[in-house]
Amino acid sequence: MKISIIGSGYVGLVAGACLAELGHAVVLIDNDPVKFAALSGGECPIHEEHLPALLAKHRGKSLTFSRDLRVAVRGSQAVFIAVGTPPAVNGEADLSYVETVAREIAGALRNYTVVVDKSTVPVYTSEWVRKIILLDGAPAEMFDVASNPEFLREGTAVTDFLYPDRIVIGADTMRAADTLREIYRPLTDGSYYRRSDAIRINPGAQPRPARLIATSTKAAELIKYASNAFLAMKISFINAVATVCDSVGADVDEVREGIGSDSRIGSRFLVPGLGYGGSCFPKDLSAYHAVARECGYEFRLLEEVMRINNDQPQRFLRKIRSVLWTLKGKRLGVLGLAFKGGTDDVRESPAISIVESLLKEGCTIQAYDPAAMVRARELLGDRNITYVSSGYEAARDADALLILTEWQEFAELDPAQIRKLLRYPIVADGRNLFDCDVMRDNGLTYISVGRPDVNHWQKEPEYSRISAAETNKPRARSTFAESEMHEQPAVGAAGLD
Ligand SMILES: NC(=O)c1ccc[n+]([C@@H]2O[C@H](COP(=O)([O-])OP(=O)(O)OC[C@H]3O[C@@H](n4cnc5c(N)ncnc54)[C@H](O)[C@@H]3O)[C@@H](O)[C@H]2O)c1
Repeated sequence: MKISIIGSGYVGLVAGACLAELGHAVVLIDNDPVKFAALSGGECPIHEEHLPALLAKHRGKSLTFSRDLRVAVRGSQAVFIAVGTPPAVNGEADLSYVETVAREIAGALRNYTVVVDKSTVPVYTSEWVRKIILLDGAPAEMFDVASNPEFLREGTAVTDFLYPDRIVIGADTMRAADTLREIYRPLTDGSYYRRSDAIRINPGAQPRPARLIATSTKAAELIKYASNAFLAMKISFINAVATVCDSVGADVDEVREGIGSDSRIGSRFLVPGLGYGGSCFPKDLSAYHAVARECGYEFRLLEEVMRINNDQPQRFLRKIRSVLWTLKGKRLGVLGLAFKGGTDDVRESPAISIVESLLKEGCTIQAYDPAAMVRARELLGDRNITYVSSGYEAARDADALLILTEWQEFAELDPAQIRKLLRYPIVADGRNLFDCDVMRDNGLTYISVGRPDVNHWQKEPEYSRISAAETNKPRARSTFAESEMHEQPAVGAAGLD
């Protein structure tokens, strides 16, 4: 099928490359001249596994790039809108990019075309897009508007697209629904998974065909917002539980194992840390909250989810202070700047907001991220911050090492080596990447999220912890004078998406 995609960002580029991989002829459009030049010149502007290989495989063949929206739309049976929907000042989604594209599409339509909204948008957007296209002079029989929300996660975007939990197509006409069914057929009939050149996530296993859920356009629009809200709620829930664990001295890992092993709950996204970030959850939650209010419902649950999340970086900063006392003049190693591991995206990254706070308080930072340093530098600049080439370099001569993003590479660092490089043996881990006992055995003071602190001068667990285990009573946080500083509510933050 001939497809054009307007917007070649994370979603448009990945969708374009994957649809070409499924056998369609795809034209990718973007009005950013820098991005267009990079893509046309053979670059892959984002850090995503499999994406460079897919671009190299299909570029110039079934995948082309253009700045001419009119020509691309005229030759297409389906046009996907994948432009940004950033937050407006009032928390609603800014739909002006979608509107601009809808107007441009209206002027280009010549044959029946399905206009597919892939951007994350509030309910009624498909109706608005339809109205705009009609107002701009396209005849009603020339097009349908459908909704096909995207659930890919940055870091695993290509395999998420090709091996989705579900594909949601919201269409109010059979013709539009059939077009979308046809586009995704290689995934829903499993033929893609039988191809010898298919990208595999689990070599050796034969994946099941993808599930397709056909709904009205309104339901599809709501599914996307409600899904993100639910996932964010799981993250804030476990972060709140982690905060209670910190207060009573319980280990959140034990608690979440107990909760997550209930099949009705599940363990995924029950991961405490620094809170969710990125370009989706924060804006989608506030947009969903705004849209619910517009429809007459105060979605207070979402307010609390957002409040817990917004508190998380502050909680972590309090915890850092509890081991470093004053921050001014401290030299801190930072591992991680991206909003989560596996991506170079720093939008709404909790790591960035923590580094900004530390810089404001007069710290000097030596930071390392495997992929996000270029983008982070655009936000943080160079004042009092150096960007180093490895996790160990970040630790060298630092007063403490902070772990702010859950890259696998960080979890593989050797604690003994970290101990040797640090000026003081202190690690503050906002992502719970290390085992507390391993850190203790390596002589490190180690604070994490929702787990009892490890103090390098205490070889054995604190008396109060042993006492709590014996008597089954909540333990006091510490019997040591030095640890009084730890009495503040500890961190409890985090999330993966
Ligand atoms: N990033 C994700 O992980 C993700 C996942 C699911 C859904 N979404 C949603 O998908 C949408 C796109 O997100 P993204 O992360 O890809 O955004 P992005 O900012 O990375 O990309 C959007 C692209 O659209 C281009 N653009 C804007 N106006 C244009 C126009 N008039 N003509 C041509 N190109 C235009 C921009 O130059 C940019 O390259 C958003 O609604 C987002 O919420 C994102």
